[in-house]
Amino acid sequence: MSPGYVELFYLTATALFIFSLHWMNDPKTARRGVAAGAAAMVLGVAATWAQPFVVNHGWLVLAVVAGIAVGYPLSRVALTAAPQRTALSHAFGGLAAALVGIGKYYLWLSEGPEELTTFRMVAIIAEVILGCVTLTGSLFAAGKLQELKWVPQRAVTYPLQNVFNIALLLVAIGIGAWLVLNPTAPAAAFLFPAVIVIALMFGVLLIIPIGGADMPTVIAILNSYAGLAAVAMGFVLENNLLITAGALDGSSGLILSIIMCRAMNRSYLNVLFGAFGSVKQSAPEGAAPGVYKADTPESAAQIMEQANNVVIVPGYGMAVAQAQHRVRELYDHLKRRGVTVRFAIHPVAGRMPGHMNVLLAEADVPYTDLVEMEDVNRDMPQCDVALVIGANDVVNPAAALDESSPIYGMPIIEAQKARTVFAIKRSKNPGFAGIDNALYFDEKTWMLFGDAKHVVGELVKELSEKAGIH
Ligand code: TAP
Repeated sequence: MSPGYVELFYLTATALFIFSLHWMNDPKTARRGVAAGAAAMVLGVAATWAQPFVVNHGWLVLAVVAGIAVGYPLSRVALTAAPQRTALSHAFGGLAAALVGIGKYYLWLSEGPEELTTFRMVAIIAEVILGCVTLTGSLFAAGKLQELKWVPQRAVTYPLQNVFNIALLLVAIGIGAWLVLNPTAPAAAFLFPAVIVIALMFGVLLIIPIGGADMPTVIAILNSYAGLAAVAMGFVLENNLLITAGALDGSSGLILSIIMCRAMNRSYLNVLFGAFGSVKQSAPEGAAPGVYKADTPESAAQIMEQANNVVIVPGYGMAVAQAQHRVRELYDHLKRRGVTVRFAIHPVAGRMPGHMNVLLAEADVPYTDLVEMEDVNRDMPQCDVALVIGANDVVNPAAALDESSPIYGMPIIEAQKARTVFAIKRSKNPGFAGIDNALYFDEKTWMLFGDAKHVVGELVKELSEKAGIH
């Protein structure tokens, strides 16, 4: 294929990547966005493959087969495991960038050291450092989220941790800078591998002090590192598509991490270096032990059908129970009785950005009834019933009231302002941040203990019986 056509295909692929990101902004067009991204990827690979310098087709076939063998099972994981699955994808991106950088360095060193220009060396060092940090950081993050036994789940901190980590990074950058100026010096034989080892170590050390609650944000940050590594790889390989796609990937990861930091009211540096999310299993000191009041689906259904205004607050438990289809049935029943039903969507409810939107879209809940946190909070005092389904941290008033709480400052859905609150969960266990929730001890709150799918099913049954539907 002539270079002109290759560039045309690359340009088309870049445009498709841009549209893909744009379409993924909205659930209505998200599927189109995924298809456009996949098409752009196929176009990029095909145009590269068709270039005359590609002669070893066997290796490429092997790479495609290996990619499908790993990618297909990854695409089948449960939605609840999506954050760790995403982390694994970033790890592969980092590995690819690091391997290309290492391979190119040694190839040029043996076949034409004059090719190792200052510009290329800067790109190679950036690619290797970012690629290695992304590789081990993402693998470690995936291990934490998967709750692997040998990976500490909590934030592990020790004195002078950040000083040590930053010093280590500076050493890697310092050696890298020396290598840029002296790529063929004899000392490079051990200094280049030293950069690789330090960057791999740094990836792990970067994740160790980060608590579970911050992991999704850190995964978005690692996404931006993987994108930057791809940009550097594009400069090494002189491939425009890699440069533009990497820049899109890097900037979207960065924007997503900033949005998530805002949603949790956290500063970027605090997420990167803090130890938020270290789990406390009991109530904060001095907190009065609360008393839960349990109710039955029968009386809850009765109160809900008489309400004018019901706000459903879904959380991680709805995902675990896969209760979204039952929730849709409940929504239909209430709507049929003329009740206004809306869903309050917290930006970090669940375990990944957009988790609740995806689940509710799967159950065909109209998007128009999904309301953002700020909007629904305005109406909460007029809400007759807030039905909390498997949510905990995102409705915990401690976020606004208790300065010592690990979630202090995170905006919440103010379910406590509704006239009556029903909360579905299986036990008295805390949520992700590991802290008790005063909402559940509140005098207007009634607990509906049980698995969300089962309890919502019971509510639906009660409403159907009352309506005479069998
Ligand atoms: P959580 O605070 O994790 O609370 C979920 C609640 O669901 C738990 O208290 C649990 O109580 C209940 N639950 C679990 N399985 C259930 C089931 N089968 N049926 C009924 N209830 C069930 O969830 P949230 O309110 O959605 O808040 C999300 C938290 O995760 C935040 O702290 C957020 O920062 C963090 N986080 C968010 C993300 C993103 S990007 N969304 C990613 C990672 C972490 P029982 O065990 O008693 O049932």
